[in-house]
Amino acid sequence: MGTPPRKGLARGLTNYGDAGFSLYLRRSFAKSMGFSGELLQRPVVGIADSRSSFNNCHRHFPELIEAVKRGVLAAGGLPLDFPTISLGEVFLSPTSMMFRNLMAMDVEEMIRAQPMDAVVLVGGCDKTVPAQLMGAVSADVPAVQLLAGPMMPTSFRGERLGACTDCRRFWALHRAGQVNAEEIAEIEGNLATTAGTCAVMGTASTMAAIAEALGMALPGTAAIPAVHADRLRAAEASGARAVALAHQPIRPSQIVTPQAIENALRVLLAIGGSTNAIVHLTAIAGRAGVDIALERLNALSDSTPVLVDLKPTGQHYMSDLHAAGGLGAVLRELKPLLHLDALTVAGETLGERLESEPGWVDRAVVKAFQEPLSKEGGLVALFGSLAPQGAILKRSAADARLFEREGRAVVFHSLDDLAARIDDPALDVTADDFLVLQNAGPKSGYAMPEAGYLPIPAKLARAGVKDMVRISDARMSGTAFGTIVLHVSPEAAIGGTLALVRQGDRIRLSVSARRIDLLVGEEELARRRAEWQPPAVAPARGYAKLYMDHVLQAEQGCDFDFLRKA
Ligand code: FES
Repeated sequence: MGTPPRKGLARGLTNYGDAGFSLYLRRSFAKSMGFSGELLQRPVVGIADSRSSFNNCHRHFPELIEAVKRGVLAAGGLPLDFPTISLGEVFLSPTSMMFRNLMAMDVEEMIRAQPMDAVVLVGGCDKTVPAQLMGAVSADVPAVQLLAGPMMPTSFRGERLGACTDCRRFWALHRAGQVNAEEIAEIEGNLATTAGTCAVMGTASTMAAIAEALGMALPGTAAIPAVHADRLRAAEASGARAVALAHQPIRPSQIVTPQAIENALRVLLAIGGSTNAIVHLTAIAGRAGVDIALERLNALSDSTPVLVDLKPTGQHYMSDLHAAGGLGAVLRELKPLLHLDALTVAGETLGERLESEPGWVDRAVVKAFQEPLSKEGGLVALFGSLAPQGAILKRSAADARLFEREGRAVVFHSLDDLAARIDDPALDVTADDFLVLQNAGPKSGYAMPEAGYLPIPAKLARAGVKDMVRISDARMSGTAFGTIVLHVSPEAAIGGTLALVRQGDRIRLSVSARRIDLLVGEEELARRRAEWQPPAVAPARGYAKLYMDHVLQAEQGCDFDFLRKA
């Protein structure tokens, strides 16, 4: 008979060449924190805390984590919280995306290095949930994702405001001269007024829905507002569930399967979710050794209706989705399309979950499968000479009148070039042109910022132009909208076709044919390719060097090559 696997504090002992000494030393140091011998015998539930004063979305985590601890203790476990990096979306430079993989490494290594039988991952702001799930899948210790929950919208002068679709709407009005400096300053204080993640179906809300659809968060927990008492009960339940998983492990590798990933993709499409989520879900899947082909995304998109009426594409806020029945209501509509045998962290299959739930739904927010907002999914992948490895368009947030057209390219070579010239009254641009931004992809030195939502040139905005075709290798905030082609791959900074576009070239977009083509002959392209020089990027050191050396393109989730599962 072999030695039984070590549990609790006895897991992963520091090696001094004497295991008995190692355990004795660890227990004596743990006792210095005032724990009794009885508590130190219990299964250990780690709680990954991503609170930071640089992250407004997580400001309620102390209370949330107290509730997790309560759940763990009541269920017979020992809760030990530990800090990880936090990624507050708007507080990071050059972009939070650059640090998602750093946080994923932090989460993975701290789960593996510290003695825990299960872990509760507490996150919410855009990159934190993907980072926690990527790390947890790689560490493969039983894990429950607990979401921050969305902010509440604010009543302001007779309308509801919520971060951050309304942030962009008012800023566009300000740029167009319709909201003055005093008004915009007042609005600034009324867009994000509670703890929690952005109030619309942006990246954070989309990733919360995906965490639940994957089966990694407890049923019914994705949409509970951050400040609702149900959020604390979800925290308590997540702690208790983690103790059960410590006794009878279900590992992330058993949950994040190809079937669960397809379920998550269906949900992403049905909720009109953020374009960023396809990058993050691809990265999470890659940690489980599962590839997501963009052609498969298109096949699923063609057969998945958009059901949820939330901003930025619809009317409502995430808290309305909770009141309307939560993600369960969406999953019930999608049931014929889902893999119902997918296992969830609750220990039941998705099918068992849906059988046992009450059927309340508010049809103002969650439409019936037979009467969807749109018969096709919110996202579509485009291919063609401009994006041989793919690009993404959020068609549910775009103007369908711009879907089949050819336009003249107005090219910006970098973000600095864009900032310098976009509002120049002398800029040669009309509303029928296609705005093209180069060198904003993963290896551009800007780390793929959410710059794909190029501003409408000021002179056109003032003339009432609301949307134009915009093309780049950047990302776009999940709270933004417009006819915006993103994630063009290969990116310009590594010599993709996007790098070869010149002012005045013709580009054809056909959403129906899933194509984006640069209408320039092969010979001319070959000549330009021979002349092409990569952009000057400042020499990197430390993590930035690791990032530049190993980050993959968007269709591989922008993960590092050495972190994906072979
Ligand atoms: Fe944190 Fe939007 S800034 S979710």
